[in-house]
Amino acid sequence: MSRLIIISNRLPVSISRQKGNFKYNESVGGVATGISSLTEPKKRLWFGWPGISSDKISSSDKIQITSELNSKGCHPVFLSNKNIRDFYSGFSNKTIWPLFHYFSEFTVFDENYWKSYKAVNRLFCDEIIKQITKDDIIWVHDYQLMLLPKMIREQLPEAHIGFFLHIPFPSFELLRNLPWRTEILEGILGSDLMGFHEYDYVRHFLSSVYRICGHEHQLNKLIIENRHIRVDAFPMGINYEKYANSKTNPAVQKEIHQLQNNRIRIILSVDRLDYTKGILKRLEAYDWFLTKHPEYREKVSLVMVAVPSRTKVEQYALLREDIEKYVGRINGAYGTLGWTPVSYMYRSLSFEQITAMYNIADVALISPLRDGMNLVAKEFIATQNNKKFQGILILSEMAGAASELSEAIVINPHDKEAVVNAIKDALEMSQEERLRRNLLMLSRISRYTVTRWANDFINSLKEVKLEQDNLATKRFTQILQKETIQYYTNSDKRLILLDYDGTLVPFAKLPQHAKPDNEILTLLEALCSDLNNDLVVVSGRDKETLSEWLGHLPLNLVAEHGASYRLKNKSWKAMIQYNNEWKKEIYPILELFEDRTPGSFIEEKKSALVWHFRKSEPDLAKLRTHELKDALIMMATNLNIGVFEGNKIIEIKPVSINKGQAVRLWLDKKDWRFIFCVGDDYTDEDMFSELPESAVSCKIGTGPSNAKFRLSSPNELRSFLRQLVSK
Ligand code: UDP
Ligand code: G6P
Repeated sequence: MSRLIIISNRLPVSISRQKGNFKYNESVGGVATGISSLTEPKKRLWFGWPGISSDKISSSDKIQITSELNSKGCHPVFLSNKNIRDFYSGFSNKTIWPLFHYFSEFTVFDENYWKSYKAVNRLFCDEIIKQITKDDIIWVHDYQLMLLPKMIREQLPEAHIGFFLHIPFPSFELLRNLPWRTEILEGILGSDLMGFHEYDYVRHFLSSVYRICGHEHQLNKLIIENRHIRVDAFPMGINYEKYANSKTNPAVQKEIHQLQNNRIRIILSVDRLDYTKGILKRLEAYDWFLTKHPEYREKVSLVMVAVPSRTKVEQYALLREDIEKYVGRINGAYGTLGWTPVSYMYRSLSFEQITAMYNIADVALISPLRDGMNLVAKEFIATQNNKKFQGILILSEMAGAASELSEAIVINPHDKEAVVNAIKDALEMSQEERLRRNLLMLSRISRYTVTRWANDFINSLKEVKLEQDNLATKRFTQILQKETIQYYTNSDKRLILLDYDGTLVPFAKLPQHAKPDNEILTLLEALCSDLNNDLVVVSGRDKETLSEWLGHLPLNLVAEHGASYRLKNKSWKAMIQYNNEWKKEIYPILELFEDRTPGSFIEEKKSALVWHFRKSEPDLAKLRTHELKDALIMMATNLNIGVFEGNKIIEIKPVSINKGQAVRLWLDKKDWRFIFCVGDDYTDEDMFSELPESAVSCKIGTGPSNAKFRLSSPNELRSFLRQLVSK
C-alpha cells in the first residue's frame, strides 16, 4: 500500500515538559494546523521535529515519545540545542524567513548556520530513508527543508517527491543576495512537483531557476537531467466544515454577552507574534483611528491575540517589547474605567477558543506586511456561517489569501489612512453588503478546501510521474549500456563518432574555457589505442583549436561542422569548396546585436559566424534572438546560408556544410561492425540521420532527436566510456 509521507520541520504536536511529565500540545502555524486535518493517520506518516530539544531528554524518553507519536501517525526527528540554535533559529528563521518575506535588513548570512541547515536536512533524509518504501508518496513542506528533495532523490532516484513552500518565494533580485542560492534551488529541484500558494511565487521561482541555474521552462515544465518536472500554484485551503460548524463555548459566550451589553464592537486580530504580520503598523492605524474618529471611543475594542513564536530570535523578542509598550500607550491614552481600547493576549489559543473569537468579532483586521497565504483570514470567513454572515474581513493585499478573498476590504498595510478608512467602512457596512461579500468568499473557500488542495497536489504529482514514465523509453539505461558493451566487445571494425562541446566536455561560459581535461584525454587515448577502433571527433570548433587541444591524439578530426577534416596523423583538408562573401553582409548585423545585448559576443569561424549569448541577461537575450532570426531569415535564401539556433548561440553558415555530409566520409569507407555516435545539439542531428539502423546513437540532454537513446550529461557519457575502455 502506498502511504503519504509528510515531512515538515514542525510536527502537528509539540512536546513540552511540565512538572517532570511530557505535555503534548497542538502546534500553531499554517503548516501544522492545515495539514493535520488531512487523510486518516493510518495511510499517513508525518516526520518532523517534536518541538523539544533532544539534549533535555534521555534515551528512554526518546523511545517513549517515539511510541506515543507513532500512535498519532507521526515520527520524530530529534534536534539538539545546537541544531535548534543554528538550523531552526539561525538559517531557517534569521536567514530564509526574513529574506523570503522581503525583510533584507533582518537577514543574517552566517556560514555556521548554513552548515547546520545542511546537516539537519541530512538528518531528516537519513531518518526518512530508513522508513520509506519505493511506493510511498513523499511530500516535503516548507523553507526549513529545501535541500531535502535532492538528498532523497540521490538515494531513491525513482521516488515520487513533491515540495510545497508555505511562504512567499521572493523575486530574483532578493534571492540573488543569498550566498547559497544555487544549492537551495537545486535542492528544491530534486522534486517532481513544486507547489506554491500563488502564481506570483511560481513566476519568481522559475525566473530564479532560469537566471541562477540556467534551466528554461516551457509552460511551467522544466527538464533537468532528463527528468520532467513541474511547478504550479496550489492555494492552500482550510478544513471548511470544521470551522463552519464550530460552536462558541459557554465561557466565551458569557464574555461576549458582557461586551454586547456594553455595546462594544470587536475588531479582532490573530497572528503569531512575527514582524511579517504587521502588528505594530496595525496598532499605529488603530491609534490613528481613535484619534481621527473620537465618536468610536468606548464603542470598539481591538482584541489582539499574539501567539508566542521563535522567542529565541532577537527580532521577535524586541518586537514583543515594542508591541506591549504600544498597547500600554494606547490603553493609557484613551482607556476609561469601563473601556479597554486594546485587549491584548500573548498566548496560544485552542481551536475552541480561537473559533469563539472568530464568532464574536465584528471585524477581523488582518494586515500582514508579507504572508505566504494566511489561513486565519479563511478561517474567519468560514465561521461567519454561524452568525448570519455579519463579520467583515479587512485583509492586506500582501497576503497570499488576498487573491482568493477579493471581496474583503483589501488594504495596503503601509497606508495608515487606508487602514483607518477600512475600519470605519467595515463598522458601518450594511448588513446586505456584508452578506453579499461573505457569501461569495464562503462559496469559494468551501469548495477549495484543504483536502481538495492536497488531492490536487498529489494528483498532479502522479501525473508528472506518468509523464516521466512515458518519456523515459529512450533512456540509455544501464541494461542498454551493458548490451552495447557486449556488442562492442564482440565486434572488430568499430567506428566511434563523438561531438565535442556539451558531449565530451560540459559547456563553459566562454568557449575557450571548455578545454579537454585530463580525464577525457585519457579516455580518448585509451579508445584510440585499441586498433579495432576508428575515432572521429566531429566538432563545430575551428581547426586551430582542435589541433591544439586534441591534435596530439591518433584520431580523426572534423572542424567547423564539416567544413574541413584531418585524418589520423595527416594534415587538414577542406571537405567542400565554399565562399565567405556572405559574411560581409551578416557581420555588421551581428555587431549591432552585440552592442545592444551586453554580455553577448561574435565568434568568427572560417566557414561560420556565431553569436553567443550565454552570459547575457536571459530575457533580453530571448527577445534579441527573435529579432535577430527575423532579421537574418530574409537574407538567408539569397545568400545560401542557414541560420541555426543552438545552445545559447545563433550560428550562421553555408547550408552545404553539415556534420551529416562530413561523417559520410567514414561511413562509406568500411564495412563497420559497430558504430557508436554521440552528440548534444541540432548540428549533431544531421549526423544521427546518416547512420545505418545497426548504429547505437545517443543524444545528450533533452528535446526531439534522431538518436536512438538519451544520456543526461557529459558525465554520464564519461562513465559509459570508462566502462567501454575497461573491457
Ligand atoms: N492558531 C492557533 N492558535 C492560536 C493562533 C493561531 O491554532 O492561538 C492557528 C490558526 O487557526 C491558523 C494557524 O494557527 O490555522 C496560523 O496560520 P496562518 O497561515 O494564518 O499563519 P502562520 O502562523 O502560518 O504564519
Ligand atoms: C509558518 C511556517 C511554518 C511554521 C509556522 C510556525 O506557518 O510556514 O513552517 O511551522 O509558521 O512557526 P514555527 O517556527 O513555530 O514552526
